[in-house]
Amino acid sequence: MWDYSEKVLDHYRNPRNVGKIDDADLIGEAGSLACGDSLKLYLKLDGEKIVDAKFQTFGCGSAVASSSILTEMIIGKTLDEAKKITNKDIAEELGGLPQEKMHCSVMGHEALEDALKKYYGEEIEENLPETADKIVCTCFNVTENQIWEAIKVNNLRTVEEVTNYTKAGGACGRCKGTIQDIIDTYYKAEHKKEEAPLTVTQKILKISKVIEQQISPELQKDGGDIEFIDLEGNKVKVRLTGMCQGCKNSRMTIKTFVESILRDKVDKNLEVEQV
Ligand code: FES
Repeated sequence: MWDYSEKVLDHYRNPRNVGKIDDADLIGEAGSLACGDSLKLYLKLDGEKIVDAKFQTFGCGSAVASSSILTEMIIGKTLDEAKKITNKDIAEELGGLPQEKMHCSVMGHEALEDALKKYYGEEIEENLPETADKIVCTCFNVTENQIWEAIKVNNLRTVEEVTNYTKAGGACGRCKGTIQDIIDTYYKAEHKKEEAPLTVTQKILKISKVIEQQISPELQKDGGDIEFIDLEGNKVKVRLTGMCQGCKNSRMTIKTFVESILRDKVDKNLEVEQV
Protein backbone atom coordinates (compact mmCIF):
# COMPACT_ATOMS: atom_id res chain seq x y z
CA MET A 1 0.00 0.00 0.00
CA TRP A 2 1.39 3.40 -0.97
CA ASP A 3 1.81 6.06 1.66
CA TYR A 4 -0.35 8.96 0.44
CA SER A 5 -0.58 12.42 1.96
CA GLU A 6 -3.93 13.67 3.24
CA LYS A 7 -4.07 16.11 0.34
CA VAL A 8 -3.61 13.37 -2.25
CA LEU A 9 -6.42 11.38 -0.65
CA ASP A 10 -8.65 14.45 -0.49
CA HIS A 11 -8.12 15.30 -4.19
CA TYR A 12 -8.60 11.67 -5.14
CA ARG A 13 -11.86 11.35 -3.21
CA ASN A 14 -13.16 14.81 -4.14
CA PRO A 15 -11.49 15.77 -7.40
CA ARG A 16 -11.91 19.42 -8.37
CA ASN A 17 -12.69 20.67 -11.86
CA VAL A 18 -13.47 17.33 -13.45
CA GLY A 19 -14.97 17.47 -16.92
CA LYS A 20 -14.68 19.20 -20.22
CA ILE A 21 -14.79 22.85 -21.32
CA ASP A 22 -16.71 22.86 -24.59
CA ASP A 23 -15.33 26.18 -25.77
CA ALA A 24 -11.82 25.70 -24.36
CA ASP A 25 -9.12 27.98 -25.78
CA LEU A 26 -6.33 25.46 -25.21
CA ILE A 27 -6.35 21.69 -24.80
CA GLY A 28 -3.37 19.65 -23.69
CA GLU A 29 -2.97 15.92 -23.68
CA ALA A 30 -0.51 13.50 -22.12
CA GLY A 31 -0.16 9.76 -21.74
CA SER A 32 -2.30 7.33 -23.68
CA LEU A 33 -4.87 4.71 -22.84
CA ALA A 34 -2.63 2.05 -24.37
CA CYS A 35 0.03 2.96 -21.79
CA GLY A 36 -2.34 2.73 -18.82
CA ASP A 37 -3.12 6.37 -18.10
CA SER A 38 -3.99 9.52 -19.94
CA LEU A 39 -4.96 13.09 -19.21
CA LYS A 40 -6.77 15.76 -21.17
CA LEU A 41 -6.57 19.29 -19.80
CA TYR A 42 -8.90 22.09 -20.94
CA LEU A 43 -8.07 25.76 -20.41
CA LYS A 44 -10.33 28.78 -20.80
CA LEU A 45 -8.56 32.09 -21.18
CA ASP A 46 -9.36 35.72 -20.67
CA GLY A 47 -6.53 37.44 -22.52
CA GLU A 48 -3.42 35.77 -21.09
CA LYS A 49 -5.12 34.72 -17.87
CA ILE A 50 -6.40 31.20 -17.22
CA VAL A 51 -9.91 31.71 -15.91
CA ASP A 52 -11.03 28.10 -15.92
CA ALA A 53 -9.43 24.66 -16.17
CA LYS A 54 -10.95 21.21 -16.26
CA PHE A 55 -9.60 17.74 -16.77
CA GLN A 56 -10.55 14.25 -17.84
CA THR A 57 -8.23 11.47 -16.83
CA PHE A 58 -8.00 7.75 -17.00
CA GLY A 59 -5.54 6.61 -14.40
CA CYS A 60 -4.85 5.77 -10.79
CA GLY A 61 -5.68 7.84 -7.71
CA SER A 62 -2.42 9.79 -7.96
CA ALA A 63 -3.21 10.74 -11.56
CA VAL A 64 -6.62 12.04 -10.47
CA ALA A 65 -5.11 13.94 -7.53
CA SER A 66 -2.28 15.40 -9.65
CA SER A 67 -4.71 16.57 -12.35
CA SER A 68 -7.13 17.97 -9.80
CA ILE A 69 -4.51 19.99 -7.91
CA LEU A 70 -2.99 21.17 -11.19
CA THR A 71 -6.30 22.77 -12.22
CA GLU A 72 -6.42 24.58 -8.87
CA MET A 73 -2.83 25.73 -9.28
CA ILE A 74 -3.34 27.24 -12.72
CA ILE A 75 -6.76 28.87 -12.43
CA GLY A 76 -6.13 32.59 -11.95
CA LYS A 77 -2.56 32.41 -13.23
CA THR A 78 -1.27 34.01 -16.42
CA LEU A 79 0.07 31.71 -19.11
CA ASP A 80 3.57 32.93 -18.31
CA GLU A 81 3.15 31.99 -14.67
CA ALA A 82 1.67 28.61 -15.56
CA LYS A 83 4.61 27.93 -17.86
CA LYS A 84 6.91 27.94 -14.83
CA ILE A 85 5.05 25.11 -13.06
CA THR A 86 7.03 21.86 -13.01
CA ASN A 87 6.04 18.33 -12.06
CA LYS A 88 7.96 18.89 -8.85
CA ASP A 89 5.65 21.82 -7.98
CA ILE A 90 2.60 19.61 -8.58
CA ALA A 91 3.95 16.87 -6.32
CA GLU A 92 4.95 19.39 -3.64
CA GLU A 93 1.53 21.03 -3.74
CA LEU A 94 0.05 17.60 -3.02
CA GLY A 95 2.28 17.22 0.02
CA GLY A 96 4.43 14.72 -1.89
CA LEU A 97 3.78 11.59 -3.90
CA PRO A 98 5.30 8.12 -3.46
CA GLN A 99 8.39 7.84 -5.69
CA GLU A 100 6.69 5.13 -7.74
CA LYS A 101 3.82 7.52 -8.48
CA MET A 102 5.83 10.57 -9.49
CA HIS A 103 5.02 9.83 -13.13
CA CYS A 104 1.49 11.09 -12.41
CA SER A 105 2.83 14.56 -11.61
CA VAL A 106 4.94 14.35 -14.78
CA MET A 107 1.80 13.53 -16.79
CA GLY A 108 0.10 16.63 -15.34
CA HIS A 109 3.05 18.80 -16.32
CA GLU A 110 3.18 17.30 -19.80
CA ALA A 111 -0.52 17.98 -20.43
CA LEU A 112 -0.02 21.58 -19.29
CA GLU A 113 3.07 21.92 -21.47
CA ASP A 114 1.18 20.47 -24.43
CA ALA A 115 -1.59 23.04 -23.99
CA LEU A 116 0.86 25.93 -23.63
CA LYS A 117 2.86 24.79 -26.65
CA LYS A 118 -0.18 25.53 -28.75
CA TYR A 119 -0.06 29.09 -27.48
CA TYR A 120 3.69 29.65 -27.50
CA GLY A 121 4.56 27.42 -30.45
CA GLU A 122 7.68 25.32 -29.88
CA GLU A 123 9.44 28.07 -27.90
CA ILE A 124 8.70 26.25 -24.66
CA GLU A 125 11.08 23.48 -25.66
CA GLU A 126 14.06 25.80 -26.10
CA ASN A 127 16.00 24.25 -23.23
CA LEU A 128 15.75 20.70 -24.45
CA PRO A 129 18.60 18.97 -26.28
CA GLU A 130 18.80 19.57 -30.00
CA THR A 131 17.76 16.11 -31.02
CA ALA A 132 14.72 14.79 -32.76
CA ASP A 133 12.28 13.75 -30.05
CA LYS A 134 12.54 10.03 -30.63
CA ILE A 135 10.67 7.37 -28.69
CA VAL A 136 12.98 5.65 -26.23
CA CYS A 137 10.47 3.45 -24.43
CA THR A 138 8.04 1.89 -26.87
CA CYS A 139 6.10 0.13 -24.11
CA PHE A 140 5.01 3.48 -22.62
CA ASN A 141 5.60 5.78 -25.57
CA VAL A 142 8.13 7.91 -23.66
CA THR A 143 10.42 10.15 -25.69
CA GLU A 144 14.02 11.19 -25.20
CA ASN A 145 13.02 14.78 -24.44
CA GLN A 146 10.53 13.66 -21.79
CA ILE A 147 13.23 11.62 -20.08
CA TRP A 148 15.73 14.49 -20.36
CA GLU A 149 13.24 16.95 -18.88
CA ALA A 150 12.39 14.60 -15.97
CA ILE A 151 16.12 14.15 -15.19
CA LYS A 152 16.70 17.89 -15.34
CA VAL A 153 13.76 19.03 -13.21
CA ASN A 154 14.03 16.27 -10.58
CA ASN A 155 17.80 15.60 -10.55
CA LEU A 156 17.23 11.94 -11.34
CA ARG A 157 20.36 9.80 -11.17
CA THR A 158 19.27 6.22 -11.76
CA VAL A 159 17.23 4.27 -14.29
CA GLU A 160 14.88 3.24 -11.49
CA GLU A 161 14.18 6.88 -10.66
CA VAL A 162 13.51 7.63 -14.34
CA THR A 163 11.03 4.75 -14.37
CA ASN A 164 9.27 6.14 -11.32
CA TYR A 165 8.93 9.55 -12.92
CA THR A 166 8.17 8.63 -16.53
CA LYS A 167 7.24 4.91 -16.51
CA ALA A 168 9.94 4.36 -19.16
CA GLY A 169 11.66 1.05 -18.43
CA GLY A 170 8.80 -0.25 -16.31
CA ALA A 171 7.68 -3.12 -18.57
CA CYS A 172 9.94 -5.21 -20.82
CA GLY A 173 13.02 -3.24 -19.74
CA ARG A 174 14.54 -3.18 -23.25
CA CYS A 175 15.00 0.58 -23.09
CA LYS A 176 16.94 0.62 -19.80
CA GLY A 177 20.33 0.79 -21.53
CA THR A 178 19.24 3.84 -23.54
CA ILE A 179 17.86 5.49 -20.41
CA GLN A 180 21.22 4.98 -18.72
CA ASP A 181 22.93 6.57 -21.76
CA ILE A 182 20.64 9.60 -21.52
CA ILE A 183 21.41 9.96 -17.80
CA ASP A 184 25.16 9.76 -18.52
CA THR A 185 24.92 12.26 -21.37
CA TYR A 186 22.91 14.69 -19.26
CA TYR A 187 25.37 14.69 -16.34
CA LYS A 188 28.38 14.84 -18.65
CA ALA A 189 26.88 17.95 -20.29
CA GLU A 190 26.08 19.46 -16.87
CA HIS A 191 29.63 18.80 -15.68
CA LYS A 192 31.06 20.51 -18.76
CA LYS A 193 28.76 23.49 -18.23
CA GLU A 194 30.00 23.82 -14.65
CA GLU A 195 33.60 23.73 -15.77
CA ALA A 196 33.38 26.21 -18.62
CA PRO A 197 33.86 29.75 -17.29
CA LEU A 198 31.21 32.24 -18.37
CA THR A 199 32.18 35.18 -20.56
CA VAL A 200 31.38 38.63 -19.13
CA THR A 201 28.37 38.96 -21.42
CA GLN A 202 27.08 35.51 -20.42
CA LYS A 203 27.60 36.41 -16.77
CA ILE A 204 25.68 39.70 -17.13
CA LEU A 205 22.82 37.96 -18.91
CA LYS A 206 22.67 35.25 -16.28
CA ILE A 207 22.74 37.74 -13.40
CA SER A 208 19.93 39.80 -15.02
CA LYS A 209 17.86 36.67 -15.51
CA VAL A 210 18.32 35.42 -11.93
CA ILE A 211 17.54 38.87 -10.51
CA GLU A 212 14.47 39.27 -12.70
CA GLN A 213 13.07 35.77 -12.30
CA GLN A 214 14.08 34.75 -8.79
CA ILE A 215 15.21 37.63 -6.60
CA SER A 216 12.91 40.43 -7.69
CA PRO A 217 9.68 38.39 -7.23
CA GLU A 218 10.79 37.54 -3.66
CA LEU A 219 11.46 41.20 -2.76
CA GLN A 220 8.22 42.30 -4.42
CA LYS A 221 6.31 40.16 -1.94
CA ASP A 222 7.33 42.70 0.75
CA GLY A 223 6.71 45.72 -1.48
CA GLY A 224 10.35 46.16 -2.49
CA ASP A 225 12.36 45.47 -5.59
CA ILE A 226 15.85 45.37 -6.99
CA GLU A 227 17.47 46.71 -10.14
CA PHE A 228 20.63 45.32 -11.67
CA ILE A 229 22.91 48.25 -12.51
CA ASP A 230 26.28 46.87 -13.59
CA LEU A 231 28.94 44.23 -13.18
CA GLU A 232 32.51 45.29 -12.42
CA GLY A 233 34.83 42.34 -12.04
CA ASN A 234 33.03 40.21 -9.50
CA LYS A 235 31.08 43.14 -8.04
CA VAL A 236 27.39 43.12 -8.87
CA LYS A 237 26.04 46.65 -8.49
CA VAL A 238 22.36 46.79 -7.63
CA ARG A 239 19.81 49.36 -6.57
CA LEU A 240 17.13 48.50 -4.02
CA THR A 241 13.80 50.18 -4.60
CA GLY A 242 10.36 50.43 -2.99
CA MET A 243 10.19 49.14 0.59
CA CYS A 244 13.68 47.67 0.31
CA GLN A 245 15.10 51.18 -0.13
CA GLY A 246 14.27 52.05 3.48
CA CYS A 247 15.37 48.75 4.95
CA LYS A 248 18.47 50.23 6.54
CA ASN A 249 18.67 47.65 9.30
CA SER A 250 18.03 44.74 7.06
CA ARG A 251 20.23 45.83 4.17
CA MET A 252 22.81 43.34 5.26
CA THR A 253 20.18 40.60 5.21
CA ILE A 254 18.98 41.59 1.75
CA LYS A 255 22.59 41.83 0.53
CA THR A 256 23.31 38.37 1.96
CA PHE A 257 20.12 37.00 0.45
CA VAL A 258 20.87 38.42 -3.02
CA GLU A 259 24.52 37.40 -2.80
CA SER A 260 23.76 33.83 -1.78
CA ILE A 261 21.36 33.34 -4.70
CA LEU A 262 23.74 34.88 -7.23
CA ARG A 263 26.64 32.81 -5.90
CA ASP A 264 24.57 29.67 -6.09
CA LYS A 265 23.12 30.30 -9.55
CA VAL A 266 25.83 32.24 -11.36
CA ASP A 267 29.31 32.37 -9.81
CA LYS A 268 30.50 31.61 -6.29
CA ASN A 269 32.87 34.61 -6.33
CA LEU A 270 30.26 37.31 -6.85
CA GLU A 271 29.86 40.12 -4.35
CA VAL A 272 26.85 42.42 -4.16
CA GLU A 273 27.23 46.17 -3.73
CA GLN A 274 24.33 48.54 -3.31
CA VAL A 275 24.58 51.83 -5.23
S1 FES B 1 10.67 -0.45 -24.17
FE1 FES B 1 10.72 0.53 -22.24
S2 FES B 1 9.88 -0.89 -20.89
FE2 FES B 1 9.68 -1.85 -22.81
